[in-house]
Amino acid sequence: MVQFFTEAHSTEAVNQRVGASCDPRLARIAESLVRHLHAFVKDVELTQAEWEFAIDFLTRTGQMCTEERQEFILLSDVLGVSMLVDAINNRRPAGATENTVLGPFHVAEAPIRAMGETISLDGKGELCRYEGRVLSLDGMPIEGACIDVWSDNADGFYDVQQPGIQPKWNNRGRFITGGDGRYVFIGIKPVSYPIPDDGPVGQLLSALGRHPYRPAHMHFTVTAPKFQTIVTHTFVGEDRYLADDAVFGVKQTLVAPFERADDPAALWVSTFDFIMTNDDAREAV
Ligand code: BEZ
Ligand code: FE
Repeated sequence: MVQFFTEAHSTEAVNQRVGASCDPRLARIAESLVRHLHAFVKDVELTQAEWEFAIDFLTRTGQMCTEERQEFILLSDVLGVSMLVDAINNRRPAGATENTVLGPFHVAEAPIRAMGETISLDGKGELCRYEGRVLSLDGMPIEGACIDVWSDNADGFYDVQQPGIQPKWNNRGRFITGGDGRYVFIGIKPVSYPIPDDGPVGQLLSALGRHPYRPAHMHFTVTAPKFQTIVTHTFVGEDRYLADDAVFGVKQTLVAPFERADDPAALWVSTFDFIMTNDDAREAV
């Protein structure tokens, strides 16, 4: 029997329309989405004005998107959805380096630099030597791993946020490990910064009484043949925003030491090993 739409049977009324030709995964996702959306609307007893506001908010979020800016991903980030999807899709055994959010400021094809070279091109900030090894879970060095790194500058901006002000590729580079799996490069000790907050997501944060700041971090992606790609950061331990990162990216295992260095080339040293899992280990966790 056809279920007409009623408040009590809203979910069934919508979900019974899914046709037999629908892809099973899409049917599962759409069914669950409708069930949770309706439950949410009923839970808060959404008013007409609130519904209109939500439609306007989502419209403005879409209108904020350009080639350079993805406000919907930012919305996902501040609602913890990006980190949840990442956690579900990157379950790893204990001891393996954990993932965190990629963020919008990664640029592909950064210059490949020689080990030990600096990525800081604007002469700003306190220099830091980043070093460590890329290892397999059983402790073997990984040769030919590519470590792609990027950070903000001492003013809290990525180079792509300040074209014409910062040199191109400032605080970015790629490094390829040799047989010992070691990496070393000079960057700056990064600083905390606000995520872009001049759009609807910033308004949402402000209305919720939340700040837009991320604790200071260095971004890394580590790739190597036959190993799962690591997309992560290392965080500066004493940062004031460590406990309330605007996008929930902090994990205890990613808080790295930043210590004073006895080195004329850098004021700080941060040592961190990346532990990679085999590509086929994903299903086994
Ligand atoms: C970042 O760390 O670059 C970032 C991550 C999520 C949202 C905005 C920025
Ligand atoms: Fe960042």
